[in-house]
Amino acid sequence: MNERDSNALAADLLKRGYELTDNENAADILLFNTCSVREQAELKAVGKIGILKKLKKKKPDIFIGVLGCMAQRRGNELLKELPHLDFVIGTDQLERLPDILEKEIIKREQISLTEENSEMPSTLTEHIIKTNGVSEFIAIMRGCDMYCSYCIVPYVRGREKSRPIPEVVDEVNKLADRGIKEIMLLGQNVSAFGLNQNTKVRPLESPFADLLTEINKINEIKRIRFISPHPFFFNDKLINTIVEHFPKICNNIHLPLQSGSDRILKSMNRRYNINMYMDVVNKLKSKIPDITFSTDVIVAFPGETEDDFNNTRRVMNDVGFDNAYIFKYSPRAGTPASKYEDQICQQLKEERNQILLKDLTERTTKHNKAMEGRVFEILIEGESSRNAQKWSGRTSNNKVAVFDHNPNLRIGDIVNVHIDRSTSMTLFGSIISS
Ligand code: 5AD
Ligand code: SF4
Repeated sequence: MNERDSNALAADLLKRGYELTDNENAADILLFNTCSVREQAELKAVGKIGILKKLKKKKPDIFIGVLGCMAQRRGNELLKELPHLDFVIGTDQLERLPDILEKEIIKREQISLTEENSEMPSTLTEHIIKTNGVSEFIAIMRGCDMYCSYCIVPYVRGREKSRPIPEVVDEVNKLADRGIKEIMLLGQNVSAFGLNQNTKVRPLESPFADLLTEINKINEIKRIRFISPHPFFFNDKLINTIVEHFPKICNNIHLPLQSGSDRILKSMNRRYNINMYMDVVNKLKSKIPDITFSTDVIVAFPGETEDDFNNTRRVMNDVGFDNAYIFKYSPRAGTPASKYEDQICQQLKEERNQILLKDLTERTTKHNKAMEGRVFEILIEGESSRNAQKWSGRTSNNKVAVFDHNPNLRIGDIVNVHIDRSTSMTLFGSIISS
């Protein structure tokens, strides 16, 4: 989401005559879009901004601003801690960045802008598309009402707010006109898109499924992906819509698990148990060929026993995730879990993290091996990052495939590739037809 916001803000500033630079010593304005989900991310950002004190001393005319979650969480306090900072703009006020810059240019003073806004911003819709860009993110909703007990997001991104379907479709159409082939729909809880406080209690409908159906109608878009759905809202309507629109809706679903233990899920306030989670997985597996799942998992949540952890290991194996973001639990001030007893020591966090990472590599290697000798559709993304002589793209289930360049084909085409060999990270193949 931050990457998407940064892109939209940069596109907005470009339109207003600003220029982008990737050389921080040449910049007149330095902006940091920050994440607060884990403490480490905040520490890194504060460290980096702290180092800029020297640059600001040398070049007092530059502006330094902090945007996003950490700005929202710490506001004025951040301006005090880092007096060389000019402004902080929280998550609900990002679209005011151009105004703030103008204000700063006229009258330099420290500004903190962190009010909540219950409306979805309507201006963060611009896109800077890389040359030959194939894939783009679209933010369809913001905020989160789930209050998982470990998570800071509901406090820093505020209440859930969804965009109207026609507005999203319009943005997709504009991207399609600019040559984009793949859309990644973004939100903290995309499967609750468009639901209100009443419909959310027992969600029988799925406005998110309706959105998928509308985007499915746009011919130039070849692939649709989304992150992240919450399993609680993954109802039959949504499952059937995904099945109906496969393969345009890709057969890799990112479904955050967080833990494989019912006891821990309860303590995390996740609103599902492993039976409910597996029900979604099994329904999708039974209906979509070669479907794969990826996930987010937290290790060493307060009170996680060896048994709980082994349950997570087992469920991860049962689902067969071949990609997973594995996080060590990080206590966030203001969240219920940060006050729970039985916080787990760093060493155990590290050990459990390593065990899951090792399982994951073994599983992925095995899955990729099983893809050898078969043919998959690959969306061509461009030159391979490791070898400019080769091209690379992705399978529908989101695996990177590298193959020989063919002058008849263009970036953005979908080709059939025979997989010859693989590693845990990459498939290597040959084009058999276009
Ligand atoms: N500690 C560790 N991981 C966290 N996440 C959210 N909050 C925390 C926390 N306090 C993880 C969850 C979520 C992902 C975006 O970040 O797994 O799905
Ligand atoms: Fe955080 Fe995701 Fe839970 Fe929302 S659903 S509180 S963003 S972990």
